[in-house]
Amino acid sequence: MEDSNKITRREFLVNLGVGFSFLVTFGSILYTALRYIYPPSKGLESGAKQILVGKIQEIPDGKAKEFLLHSAPAVVVNLKGEFKAFTTKCPHLGCIVKWDSGRGILVCPCHDGLFDLNGNVISGPPPRGLTKLSTFVKEDQIYVGRENS
Ligand code: FES
Repeated sequence: MEDSNKITRREFLVNLGVGFSFLVTFGSILYTALRYIYPPSKGLESGAKQILVGKIQEIPDGKAKEFLLHSAPAVVVNLKGEFKAFTTKCPHLGCIVKWDSGRGILVCPCHDGLFDLNGNVISGPPPRGLTKLSTFVKEDQIYVGRENS
């Protein structure tokens, strides 16, 4: 009498391979979807100390200067003598956002994400705005961070 429920070693190995492939594929898709919905937060401000960005004269009105904040790309913009700074890693997929002096906004070149002068999303796919950094000026030098830190 033959047992029809019994599977061969070959069938077992094929099923194991198919199951493993399904788990890897499904896990990759789920991971990518979750990273898109919940992008990682850098929390840069928590560990940031003062960083000297440069002299006031280096950044004319309406212009910007890119710099690194603990190896993270950032930019400081001169808006009529007020300096605003942001991290420039796009919260969508991580491209580097650039200052567009002609339009007076920050632009992500990858998917045309646009950010206003407060780092908020104007349009495009970014799920949240840019991280705004504190700035202060001391003796003609622009710093990012808190003045008393
Ligand atoms: S990576 Fe910036 S909009 Fe997509």
